[in-house]
Amino acid sequence: MHVVWLITLFLVLFTFINKFWCFWCRSQVCLVGKTALITGAASGLGLQTALALAAKGCRVIVADVANVTEAVEKIKTITHNPHIIGKSVDLSSLKSVRQFAKNFLETEPKLNLLMCNAGVGSHRIREQTVDGLEKTMQVNYFSHFLLTHLLLGLLKKSSPSRIVFTSSEAAFLSNLTVDTLNASEEYFHNFFTAFTGGVYSNSKLAAAAAVRSFAKRIDGTGVKIYAVHPGVVKTTFIPRTINLDKNYLLGVVFMAYLYIVGKTPEEGAQTLIYVAHSDEVENASGKSFVEGMRIPGVPQLTDEFCEDIWQATIKILNMEPHEIAC
Ligand SMILES: *[C@@H]1O[C@H](CO)[C@@H](O)[C@H](O)[C@H]1NC(C)=O
Ligand SMILES: *[C@@H]1O[C@H](CO)[C@@H](O)[C@H](O)[C@H]1NC(C)=O
Ligand SMILES: *[C@@H]1O[C@H](CO)[C@@H](O)[C@H](O)[C@H]1NC(C)=O
Ligand SMILES: *[C@@H]1O[C@H](CO)[C@@H](O)[C@H](O)[C@H]1NC(C)=O
Repeated sequence: MHVVWLITLFLVLFTFINKFWCFWCRSQVCLVGKTALITGAASGLGLQTALALAAKGCRVIVADVANVTEAVEKIKTITHNPHIIGKSVDLSSLKSVRQFAKNFLETEPKLNLLMCNAGVGSHRIREQTVDGLEKTMQVNYFSHFLLTHLLLGLLKKSSPSRIVFTSSEAAFLSNLTVDTLNASEEYFHNFFTAFTGGVYSNSKLAAAAAVRSFAKRIDGTGVKIYAVHPGVVKTTFIPRTINLDKNYLLGVVFMAYLYIVGKTPEEGAQTLIYVAHSDEVENASGKSFVEGMRIPGVPQLTDEFCEDIWQATIKILNMEPHEIAC
């Protein structure tokens, strides 16, 4: 009974915060002369963030696996900012990430803001990438970890600069260990993963852990890093994340709930936009934000846990010594 009350209280609180207490970014900082790279910017939160930064004069590189032509034209038309560039990257391939970074360093002289935003929801079956890794983790976390390392030199050179990882409240539900970073088939058959968002939650906790680890290592370099939990947003991947097969009724009820309380992508992007450029967060490197507020990190993120995840990631990605930037 205790648990039922706790869950009810949580849902009521969460509904209130997510839907009715929606933070709106009112920062007036001008971004003329700055360059931002946003992954997953062809749609959803990434597109809304790109629109907001472009409207403030920022040069924005829209990176996505989907065709970016339409998004680039849309941003140019709405904001009258001509400095919008589309680039293609497939985050489910480490080779594509390395090629993308190489091309970026050859074509862009500076980078003031890296937004590791692209994400996919987890499926009920394990999908494997060309690199032999679990797909949700690779797209949401592994590739962004690698990309951040590959672009850190340019970020330092262009400082003051920032890195923002799109995490999720789902990170609080995660059950991640170093052994489940590259989740096996069995992990998908675990009864609990349907309730906890499974590898999706894990990828978002791993992202938050990376923020902690990077923050420590790049302290004093002029590069700041943050994690943002944008709340539940009505994007296309909610249905994928809920395991409909095993808990059909629960899945439908939960999905309906998410659609009812879900924010629009524009509402959901507000904290990302805020953390990306507001002066108010300048001394909060390594911290997590919800609705424009700094929050205590996920309890699971101890220094030891973050360091273990960091080392395990470098090993899984088989990163060359020259690729490890800090
Ligand atoms: C992207 O879409 C545009 C039209 O919206 C098309 O002209 C272009 O060829 C497409 N690019 C790729 C790489 O498919
Ligand atoms: C990731 O997991 C898959 C399937 O369990 C396995 O084949 C692969 O070798 C693993 N990769 C690494 C780097 O651990
Ligand atoms: C956490 O993950 C382990 C496997 O690593 C699994 O045995 C356990 O049941 C999971 N617990 C929850 C609550 O998801
Ligand atoms: C950040 O720290 C510096 C140095 O201590 C201080 O001058 C500045 O006011 C702080 N900024 C904010 C927004 O708190």
